[in-house]
Amino acid sequence: MAIIVGSAAIALPATAQQTPPAFEPRDETPEQYPPGPNRDDTFYFCVACHSFQIVAQQRMSRSRWDDVLTWMTERHKMPDVQGEERDKILDYLSTAFPETTQPRGWKNPFAPK
Ligand code: HEC
Repeated sequence: MAIIVGSAAIALPATAQQTPPAFEPRDETPEQYPPGPNRDDTFYFCVACHSFQIVAQQRMSRSRWDDVLTWMTERHKMPDVQGEERDKILDYLSTAFPETTQPRGWKNPFAPK
């Protein structure tokens, strides 16, 4: 118990220092993101706390998405989601935002071919 209280006390000032995000949940809709089963559920679950944009810019394997959910729960007090519900979220995330082997974006023209 003492450990939990202690870490919450450390986490609070750090959060308070952050400038309030300009983001408003109503600025985003699930339709902006790749269609697929469970998209809306996943979207509304995550935007309780932050923009879905920061989720959608990630590309990860299913097991790393699983780690993200664990991290969200342990570090940021996201409601723990297990079983079928967790599978649905992971299905959507790993399908819509899968790990890419191709590097994206800018390529160094001087890189050895
Ligand atoms: C209870 C609040 C809460 C919920 C719900 C939540 N998150 Fe987060 N998440 C946070 C906070 C706070 C941060 C930013 C702080 C940080 O990066 O440590 C964050 C950051 C992230 C990041 C990192 C973004 C970056 O810039 O690297 C990812 C990825 C992420 N969340 C994914 C998710 C996904 C996927 C869901 C829904 C399944 C979700 N989060 C739901 C609190 C939450």
